[in-house]
Parts: sequence; C-alpha cells; structure tokens
Amino acid sequence: MTTYLITGCAGFIGSHLAEKLLLEGNKVVGIDNFDPFYAREIKEKNLDFALRDKNFSFYEVDLKNAEEMQNISQKIDIVIHLAAKAGVLPSIKDPISYINDNILVTQNILNYCQENSISKFIFASSSSIYGNNKSVPFSEDDRVDEPISVYAASKKSCELLNYTAHHLYKMDVVNLRFFTVFGPRQRPDLAIHKFVKLIDTDQQINMYGDGSTGRDYTYIQDTVQGIVAASKYVLQNNKIYEIVNLGNHQPIKLTQLIETIEKVLHKKANIKKMPMQPGDVDLTFANIEKAKTLFSYAPSTSFEEGVSQFVKWYNGQKS
Ligand SMILES: NC(=O)c1ccc[n+]([C@@H]2O[C@H](COP(=O)([O-])OP(=O)(O)OC[C@H]3O[C@@H](n4cnc5c(N)ncnc54)[C@H](O)[C@@H]3O)[C@@H](O)[C@H]2O)c1
Repeated sequence: MTTYLITGCAGFIGSHLAEKLLLEGNKVVGIDNFDPFYAREIKEKNLDFALRDKNFSFYEVDLKNAEEMQNISQKIDIVIHLAAKAGVLPSIKDPISYINDNILVTQNILNYCQENSISKFIFASSSSIYGNNKSVPFSEDDRVDEPISVYAASKKSCELLNYTAHHLYKMDVVNLRFFTVFGPRQRPDLAIHKFVKLIDTDQQINMYGDGSTGRDYTYIQDTVQGIVAASKYVLQNNKIYEIVNLGNHQPIKLTQLIETIEKVLHKKANIKKMPMQPGDVDLTFANIEKAKTLFSYAPSTSFEEGVSQFVKWYNGQKS
C-alpha cells in the first residue's frame, strides 16, 4: 500500500485526487490550512468523502510554518504538492502572499522531504508559466523566462527550487503544468464557475477582451488521471526530473465557452464587454505528447460534457 501526502488536499484538485487514490486502495495524508482565498465551508465540504475513509488522515497545517509539519507521524512514500495561492489577478494585487504561500511553502515542503528521506515529489505547476508564448502548442522545451504575473513567476520559481532539490538531494521530481482545470467543485474565482452562477441567476457577465482569447480547458478527472499516472511513473523510476504539460490540446475560445454554458443552462447570457485584464494571457494550448509518451496520459472528456458535469454539480449545491 502506497502512502501519498497531498498538500492543498481540501482544494478543488486535491480533494478529487484524494478520492481517486483512496478508491484505488492507497493511504492518503492530507494537509490544508483552509486559506481564505475562498470559503472554508466549501473546502470542508470537499473533504466529506475522504474523511469517511479509514485510510485518510487530515492535518490542518499552514505550510508557511514548517514546524507545524512535525505532528505528521505517517511514513510517506510520495508527496504531491498542490497547496498554493492560485489566481492571476490577485497575485498582482497581493504579490507578497504569493511569494509566501507558493515559493516559501514549496521550499518548506522540499526541506521536509529531505529531513524525512522522501525522494518522490510531484509539483502542481501551471500553464501560466508560458506567458504570451508565441509558438503554439506550448511545449515543455519552450523558453519560459517572461512570466506576465506574479503567480506565473512564483510557479516558475518553484520549478527551479525543485530542480535544485533534485540536484542536491537526489529527489525524483515531476513538475506538472496544469491547463485551466474545470469540473465539479471548480474554484469559485474561475470563469466557468463564475459565468454559470451569473447566467443562471440572470446577472450580467463581464467578457474581458473581444472573446477571442482561448484556454486549453482540461476536465478534472482527466487531470487527476494524469497526476496519478505521473505519480506511478515517479515511484517506479529513479534519477527523474521532468516538466510535463497536463492539458487537453484543444483550446476553447471565450465566446465558445459562453455559448456552451448558454446551451447547457438553456439560458442567454447578458454580456458586458470589458478590456483585457493585466496578467491574463491570450491563449493557452498544450502540447501533450510528452505526457502521453512518459505515462500514457489520455484526456477524454469533451468540453461540453465537462460543462454539463459542472452544471449538474452546481445545481446539486443549490438544493
Ligand atoms: N485549477 C486550475 O485550473 C489550475 C491550473 C494550473 C495550476 N493549478 C495549481 O494546482 C494547485 C491546486 O489548484 P486548485 O484549483 O485545486 O486550487 P485550490 O485553491 O482549490 O486549492 C489549493 C489549496 O491549497 C491550500 N493552501 C494554500 N496555501 C496553503 C498553506 N500555506 N498551507 C496549507 N495549505 C494551503 C488552500 O487552502 C487550498 O485548499 C495549485 O497549486 C494551483 O496553482 C491549478
């Protein structure tokens, strides 16, 4: 039985990942500090399923305070580090908290791994690292030295710290660059969640730019499948340091996103056109050949199916 430590376990991706690993018969140790970026009660609800499983243990720990990790008694086989402040615009308004919750926290976790002889490490990186990359689709070999938000810069910094840990302490590391993940429990600050709520309640939505920006939306279960496959790859191999895109290879334009939500909700959106927001990139588009080759990553959920699943979950929350 493998014991996984998931940081950010009460969040959107972390809670789905914990469920999947528990269903596969693993032990999961979850950490979260219920960061106020969005409501604590949403995160507590995310943990409902995992908390009913005897193979799940939860620690409410703020990873900025390394000493709080001393209470963890389990022997960990692999760390999946998802805890972070996410979101692009808030990182421009409050850069210091992104330095603390993303960069400082990542170094604290790497120290914890070294002190506890944990050599297997997966990191949640982001497509935002590519900035306004000119060559598409985005490939892991592209030069990514021009992040256009503090969030993106923080993720790039973490990838570099992970490399240093790989070099100094022989840790096996995979940095997974996620591309806008969506589905049930999606963070309330993200476009699909915001738009569904506003269109459903007959409120106006702000469309930033002319609607031609595109995002390589990836369905949560496809992302989770990729994280699990990457974990097995890291557990089974040594001398690993990899950066791997986990996207869908199918960008969806903002106008198409709105039309899909309208179709699924059977409602028309009331759209207010707004200028582009600082830090927002024009396009994300993943080359996913490396993930396919290394660990048979195979996203399979269509955008419309994913939006339908999100709306089903959203409607369930209302009742
Ligand atoms: N959702 C996406 O589309 C997306 C895309 C690219 C990258 N990512 C990355 O994936 C990871 C998970 O994203 P998510 O959408 O599930 O976000 P989320 O906000 O739902 O989850 C992150 C969790 O980390 C916790 N956390 C934050 N700071 C912490 C700290 N100091 N100590 C302990 N816990 C802390 C939060 O309370 C939260 O529950 C993040 O690292 C994010 O940057 C997400």
